[in-house]
Amino acid sequence: MKILIIGAGAREHAICWKICQSSSTHTLFIAPGNAGTALLGENVLLDPLDFNKVGQFCLEQNIELVFVGPEEPLVLGIYDHFKSTKELQNIIITGPGKEGAQLEGSKSFAKKFMKKYGIPTAAFAEFHSASFDEGCAYIQSHSLPIVLKADGLAAGKGVLICTTHNEAINEFSSILKDKKFGDAGNKVVVEEFLTGVELSVFLLTDGTNYLLLPEAKDYKKIGQQDTGPNTGGMGAISPVPFATEHFMLKVKEKIIVPTLSGLRTENIEYSGFIFLGLIKVNDEPFVIEYNCRLGDPETETILLRLKNDLVQLLKGMATGNLAEQEIMIDKKSAATIVAVSGGYPGHIEKGKQIDFNYLENPQAIKHIDEAGGGVTVFHAATIQKNTEVLTNGGRVLTASALSDSLPEALELCIETLSQIHFEGMYYRPDIGYEFVD
Ligand code: AMP
Ligand code: GLY
Repeated sequence: MKILIIGAGAREHAICWKICQSSSTHTLFIAPGNAGTALLGENVLLDPLDFNKVGQFCLEQNIELVFVGPEEPLVLGIYDHFKSTKELQNIIITGPGKEGAQLEGSKSFAKKFMKKYGIPTAAFAEFHSASFDEGCAYIQSHSLPIVLKADGLAAGKGVLICTTHNEAINEFSSILKDKKFGDAGNKVVVEEFLTGVELSVFLLTDGTNYLLLPEAKDYKKIGQQDTGPNTGGMGAISPVPFATEHFMLKVKEKIIVPTLSGLRTENIEYSGFIFLGLIKVNDEPFVIEYNCRLGDPETETILLRLKNDLVQLLKGMATGNLAEQEIMIDKKSAATIVAVSGGYPGHIEKGKQIDFNYLENPQAIKHIDEAGGGVTVFHAATIQKNTEVLTNGGRVLTASALSDSLPEALELCIETLSQIHFEGMYYRPDIGYEFVD
């Protein structure tokens, strides 16, 4: 099968890697990809937001399946473009459509949806420029900390946790009046702060049935012991010790089932992934956010534990036969540690040469096999220039490992990263710290 993968991160490299484990052989194209994906397929210079060009490419190359990695093309309607264009209609494409993608693309939509369908989430109110004064009064009388969320996509920066009323009012004003996040901040959701532990839960749905993928815990803060500013994700582990069977049953009953039935009641056809950003408060799950895609670095972690053929799952998603498939999860532990450029998540410099000391072919590392596990490297912001691989952004690459225990998986990641070098390279050696003695 000819498959196009849209995106450029370690998530997309991991998707390519997983597809290469399929029982059948597939030809991969990645738009735009990175130096790692280029080793598994052909990188193509396509703008993922130029749907006409993407569609044209698919027709020229006889692409049969499109995997959409990041949220932006989904929120802007790439799925709808394919389904409403006669020649592209029969290509399998991971959704959802624009309507369903609002679960991620509009915090306001997601919060109202949860309220309507009784899905546990933090208490909230919503304001826009016409209700600015009302919003200020609401904030002044709200308990601290207080959470402000820009309604639209803001490159992961649209959530602000404020510890004083002054700070909250200033931020509220800079979003609504100074347009700090542009049009994404035309509305602001003001939310109660929840205290608990976070968990990422992933499901694949064909609109009627769903399959639960392995869960993961993402480490978002730049500093050790979860300190400092938020990042796109510095590492992840799976399984998550507190995601017990009992807790996951509550997630299914209180969150997954009402979410899917709510979508159906709203007449929103949804085929694709739902990524639930959850928080466990006193043993009860609450939704912090919905995403309409897989997470990064969670994907690099959970795919190591997924034994299914990913292509079969994606076909099932499109044909509505997910009920006939069963998820098979490796009991071993998986971990990912992300290596980032110096200065990240602030200002970074690109173009640093990456020295993969450990082997001539960085992709070849110890292959992850079903029996023993192993470790691999997924590229994120990397670019090939002649014979060199250079850094090309904040999150540069990951080491991702599968082993009998979490400490062993983490050790494999650290051992691998200790052999890779680029100027300014930084990673958190304490990923998973709260679960390791
Ligand atoms: P997001 O950009 O939506 O992923 O949010 C970033 C992070 O902000 C989440 O992963 C949480 O750690 C935190 N967060 C968002 N909403 C809340 C909330 N209501 N209570 C506590 N933390 C929150
Ligand atoms: N790791 C969080 C995300 O992908 O949004």
